[in-house]
Amino acid sequence: MIPLSIPNISGNEWQYVKDCLDTGWISSVGSYVNQFEEKITEFTGAKYAVATMNGTAALHIALQLAGVREKDLVIVPNITFVASCNAIKYAGADPMLIDIDPHTWQMELDLLEEHLEKYTYIVAEGDGETEEIVRPYSLLSHRRIGAIMPVHVLGNMVDMDRLQRICKRFYLPMVEDSTEALGSYFNKQHAGTFGQFGTFSFNGNKIISTGGGGVIVTNDEILAKKAKHITTTAKKDPFEYDHDEVGYNYRLVNILAAVGVAQMEQLPAFLERKKAIDKYYREHLENENLQFQKVGDRVIPNNWLHTMKVKDQRGMIKHLLDNGVQCRPFWVPMNQLKMYQNCRYISNNDISNMIYRSCISIPSSTNLTDAQVEEVVRVVQSFK
Ligand SMILES: Cc1ncc(COP(=O)(O)O)c(C=O)c1O
Repeated sequence: MIPLSIPNISGNEWQYVKDCLDTGWISSVGSYVNQFEEKITEFTGAKYAVATMNGTAALHIALQLAGVREKDLVIVPNITFVASCNAIKYAGADPMLIDIDPHTWQMELDLLEEHLEKYTYIVAEGDGETEEIVRPYSLLSHRRIGAIMPVHVLGNMVDMDRLQRICKRFYLPMVEDSTEALGSYFNKQHAGTFGQFGTFSFNGNKIISTGGGGVIVTNDEILAKKAKHITTTAKKDPFEYDHDEVGYNYRLVNILAAVGVAQMEQLPAFLERKKAIDKYYREHLENENLQFQKVGDRVIPNNWLHTMKVKDQRGMIKHLLDNGVQCRPFWVPMNQLKMYQNCRYISNNDISNMIYRSCISIPSSTNLTDAQVEEVVRVVQSFK
């Protein structure tokens, strides 16, 4: 079977992991965590990075530190991996789902802006002493909207200039679910650096992997310190077991960070390979019955997971699997999952459902050989 999206372990991973094993620094402290965080800041241009045990934990902490409170709403696209909505729930809030654009498969900004204009009002809270907090409230439920979480689906991005303008106008803190977008840029600015926080995931299918892992990025020093503190059990002192709030044991361990450092060294080559595979698939497969995700002019995507929209999705999936090509359908839209079916879903034509029912992800691993990529194309083309 030609694999869908698997780790590419071909650099210094063994050497760095051996170093951890030889020295005993396998757990919560060690130099690789710092090195990994430095590599992330260097690459993304974010000022600070805090490594976490996975991307979901990164999202949870970012939302909490962005000020999301119990019973808030958090705006998120209806097409995303379930972890985006789960993290919103962990922060005590509920997702407010926005339908997606039929071509880019990202949050539909017209719909978002129209909804905020028509159905929200702005409230300023403050007691005259603490800093005033200004947020939009929903006219429909009178619930506070605590944040917006754009998701850079498959490494693509929306018009971030416009999204930032919307956030400013409606006083919305932005937490980017950029978990899939390491190596993606809008206007030459790296994904995850537009909002108060960005987050990345390094699970097994991502562009680089630490087995499991994540990171929070931010340009705000105080928030970065808070993120480090709260992800390391809110420990006040390295010696005394003294903690000053309910913290989390969310840190990334050194042995996994060691894998991450080796993976980061290879990221530029991985990005090149993804770009070449994307080009090949587009050139050989795109036609009136089969399209890939549309990418905006100012976006440089990381081409993380090659996904195509076809007429007969279930037929194509069967054909690919029968012919040794691993593939997956797209995520079930959040409004169709039983945990989230009662969330408000802002949509005119339920584009999410159409995309869910027509998209298929095809082999995208950076270690695919040219022959395997050609074979994928041959099998897709042979579907009648
Ligand atoms: C869009 C999106 N959000 C969140 C996550 C969660 O990341 P993790 O699996 O590292 O917890 C992922 C990846 O799995 C994802 O694709």
